[in-house]
Amino acid sequence: MEKIRLTPRLLAVGKMIPPGAKVADVGTDHAYLPVWLRQEGICERVIASDIAPGPLDSARASARRCEVDGIDFRLCPGLEGILPGEADTVVLAGMSGETMAGILADAEWDWTGKRLILQPMTKRAELLAWLYEHGLHVREERLVEERHRLYWVLCAEKGREPMPRPACLWAGFTETEYARRLRRQLERSLAGQRKAREPDPAEVRRTEELLEDMKDAYGW
Ligand SMILES: C[S@@+](CC[C@H](N)C(=O)[O-])C[C@H]1O[C@@H](n2cnc3c(N)ncnc32)[C@H](O)[C@@H]1O
Repeated sequence: MEKIRLTPRLLAVGKMIPPGAKVADVGTDHAYLPVWLRQEGICERVIASDIAPGPLDSARASARRCEVDGIDFRLCPGLEGILPGEADTVVLAGMSGETMAGILADAEWDWTGKRLILQPMTKRAELLAWLYEHGLHVREERLVEERHRLYWVLCAEKGREPMPRPACLWAGFTETEYARRLRRQLERSLAGQRKAREPDPAEVRRTEELLEDMKDAYGW
């Protein structure tokens, strides 16, 4: 029997899932996470869904290869084929933050008592802004490195909290390597913008303001 070994990014997602959780892994692709959750005995049943048939075939193949049962495969966009009562933990991993916000918006679920585990590949700020605008907030965030790239893993839940400052939306609630890398990137981009023949003043101002807010937030 093959044993699934998750890479650091998906392992960080898996470690945020408490034993006994009723998980829906939306956009599961190869279903590595659901198979791992079953092999580790963390969940009795897991819903593994995907918008496309190809990934769902791969998901079924992983479960067969690993001789794992208890995975419920669903072909559907977002949460469309999943009832709110079927999951207390919704995982969205490996997609853009924008796609994730779209999936959550379309679902119109009541998030009371639910946990969202989110691993955006891009557009962290847009995803967080959507969460706070819709009565959700980030309870925990972790940063994980895989092959020199940094990934966020967030746990969000219901509860209205003030919109975080721009630095926190973009670069994390505490100072991390992610924030330091983003600072270098923004400084390079600002230098480039200032040298441009026709700099976009709005773009320059936005970058300057974000850098200022990061300096204030992280005490640089
Ligand atoms: C890059 S894979 C990520 C797989 C896995 N979750 C991970 O983090 O490694 C993204 C998957 O999300 C699926 N996907 C994209 N948009 C989706 C949507 N709106 N609803 C469900 N699945 C979606 C794609 O078909 C693809 O299989």
